[in-house]
Amino acid sequence: MPDEPILKVDGVSKHFKVGGRTLRAVERVSFDLGAGETLGIVGESGSGKSTLGRLVLRLLEADEGRVVFQGEDLAKLASNELRSRRRDMQIIFQDPLASLNPRMTVGAAIEDAMVVQKIGRSASERRHRTEGLLERVGLQPSAVDAYPFELSGGQQQRVGIARALSLGPKLVVCDEPLSALDVSVQVQIIQLLQELQRELGITYLFISHNLGVVQLISDTVVVLYLGEVVEQAGADELFERPQHPYTQALMRSVLKVPEELEKRAPLVALAGEMPSPLSPPSGCPYHPRCPLAMDRCKEEKPLLRTVSEGHMAACHKAGEAVTMGSAPAVLVTPSELAAS
Ligand SMILES: Nc1ncnc2c1ncn2[C@@H]1O[C@H](COP(=O)(O)OP(=O)(O)OP(=O)(O)O)[C@@H](O)[C@H]1O
Ligand SMILES: [Mg+2]
Repeated sequence: MPDEPILKVDGVSKHFKVGGRTLRAVERVSFDLGAGETLGIVGESGSGKSTLGRLVLRLLEADEGRVVFQGEDLAKLASNELRSRRRDMQIIFQDPLASLNPRMTVGAAIEDAMVVQKIGRSASERRHRTEGLLERVGLQPSAVDAYPFELSGGQQQRVGIARALSLGPKLVVCDEPLSALDVSVQVQIIQLLQELQRELGITYLFISHNLGVVQLISDTVVVLYLGEVVEQAGADELFERPQHPYTQALMRSVLKVPEELEKRAPLVALAGEMPSPLSPPSGCPYHPRCPLAMDRCKEEKPLLRTVSEGHMAACHKAGEAVTMGSAPAVLVTPSELAAS
């Protein structure tokens, strides 16, 4: 029997009140994540990725649904219990500089978190540990005395990773950790995250709007649209046989299709803008942008349903082998990403 997942997200929703109206930021999202694996969450800006990440860490309270981490329902933990569990759940942010205190040296920022969580018996032990962590993420141990502004963006993100690792977490939520970095640095950080996962068995929830990056790092992928899961599958399966027109359109932005094939079987790019989550469209939320939309899509919302084992999509046409045409999905490889 497979192991119990380290994280179970079960029908989680979060609604915000905005000017007397209800904004459905995350709507009944469910997934399981196995220990040591990576689940990628993709979707355009405003699709609810960060809100979902914060719900998982209980930095936000869910309106409904459950988050079960290592067999415990997080909503049932008292605040002191939650504090001690926080060691096991860390987050890496998009903007490393904003997440570091400009008046604290790198060493002080990392050691502070250890003091709060009572890690290390003495200041010198914490310093030693911090230097080791900095080396592990590819920085000089002497970076302990540096201030964040003295470092490059890539180095700052390495500090953010070292700080997240300092407490020995089991789960790390990476919220767009690469977006503020140059492409060549992005590849180095992906490789570092992958090495750390292999060595330490860390589980990642990896949030990104870039499907190419998600393909490189994920075992499983969840595609969000207006707060809802529209497709979910193993990464290889998703990239080989994307079922939802939204996933296909997102892929189009990172696909490399030979010109010849493009003429014969054009892939539809993402059209228009995402509607406001304050007034989502009727029926399928994607129908106003969907090249395949039928009358039914305007009225009847497609349920997330299983198309093949482990592959779910919320589209009336999912499973009909439509839409990708005959064009092979040639996604960007790490070296091409670095060279682009
Ligand atoms: N505290 C809040 N109050 C009101 N609305 C919010 C709040 N936090 C998020 N939202 C709204 O919820 C929706 C989802 O936001 P979220 O930040 O989760 O999206 P995202 O997918 O992370 O976007 P991005 O790619 O831009 O980071 C957005 O419409 C956002 O404006
Ligand atoms: Mg976000």
